[in-house]
Amino acid sequence: QESWFLLVYLSSCCISIHCDTVVNMRKVTHQRVQEPLSGTALLPCVFTLRPSPSHEPPRIKWTKLWGQRGPDGLQKQQSILVAKDNIIKVKKAFQGRVTLLGYPEDRYNASLVLTGLRSSDSGMYRCEVVVGINDEQDTVPLQVTGVVFHYRAPHDRYALSFSDAKRVCLENSANIATPAQLQATFNDGYDNCDAGWLSDQTVRYPIQSPRPGCYGDREDSPGVRNYGSRDPDEMFDVYCFANSLVPEKLSLASASTHCHTLGAQLATVGQLYLAWQGGLDRCDPGWLADGSVRYPINLPRRHCGGDEPGVRTVYHNPNRTGFPDTSDLFDAYCYHGWLN
Ligand SMILES: *[C@@H]1O[C@H](CO)[C@@H](O)[C@H](O)[C@H]1NC(C)=O
Ligand SMILES: *[C@@H]1O[C@H](CO)[C@@H](O)[C@H](O)[C@H]1NC(C)=O
Repeated sequence: QESWFLLVYLSSCCISIHCDTVVNMRKVTHQRVQEPLSGTALLPCVFTLRPSPSHEPPRIKWTKLWGQRGPDGLQKQQSILVAKDNIIKVKKAFQGRVTLLGYPEDRYNASLVLTGLRSSDSGMYRCEVVVGINDEQDTVPLQVTGVVFHYRAPHDRYALSFSDAKRVCLENSANIATPAQLQATFNDGYDNCDAGWLSDQTVRYPIQSPRPGCYGDREDSPGVRNYGSRDPDEMFDVYCFANSLVPEKLSLASASTHCHTLGAQLATVGQLYLAWQGGLDRCDPGWLADGSVRYPINLPRRHCGGDEPGVRTVYHNPNRTGFPDTSDLFDAYCYHGWLN
């Protein structure tokens, strides 16, 4: 009984005194790293080591965690790489896509760079640092945004010129996809036997299982088929890329343009007050026609400007004077008979 107690005492002592101080991770509550499809993400992992008598180099391990927790309370795991000293071993599934940029020049910076982002890369990334019997870990959430879709003119197959292709994507809250975006989607399993324009004026389509009518420029292997650069007047379908339901934040000039494309105008201050009186509640500062930035609050809450209902104004100076710079980025309040 006594020796059992001693063992527990020793090990908890180790955990609270020793382990915490040998490896010290600069943990912060990581903001979710958000990057678009086919982009590059930097997942931070920085730590310090207390000098230890053994001078043993730290071992670094990166693991991806994703999906719902199973009955055992665990998520799916996939190891990405391990590094120790000058040796970095990358798992096959991630080869060619991950690097420890700072390592081994700076052995205390194990930040991971992941390129060619796919939707399936979204998840939690865990960085573990082990020195002897001591270890520390930190996790960073990653979200890969955006989706590629195939679009065909309403009346017929292969009826879009290159300029039509760019226009129909814009009309559908998207942009014409880049070859890298189509490739990232292919890498996640996308298969579609319709040749479509891409942003570099090439025409391609993604094939997982080659079959008659879909061979393109290759008979036997899976891959994105490429017809190469085409005359802009040739007719094909198109691949579009939509990134976000929320429009990007806008400068004053682009806010005004944005309202015009909706057939509206930037709202006036009076229109915003009337909409506020009518119940509008938005905790998003937005441009108005006079170049001011305001937002209407009916349900006061934390982080939305105080305890009273009202229209809040964003000032440039701490003494509550001056409108924001016209190049600052906000939402826009547009008016076309009603406000949105
Ligand atoms: C760690 O390395 C990354 C990639 O080289 C770099 O961007 C980052 O600034 C480094 N962080 C620190 C704290 O040195
Ligand atoms: C408020 O601050 C700005 C810049 O900090 C200054 O130019 C302005 O004169 C101040 N206004 C008042 C009323 O103090």
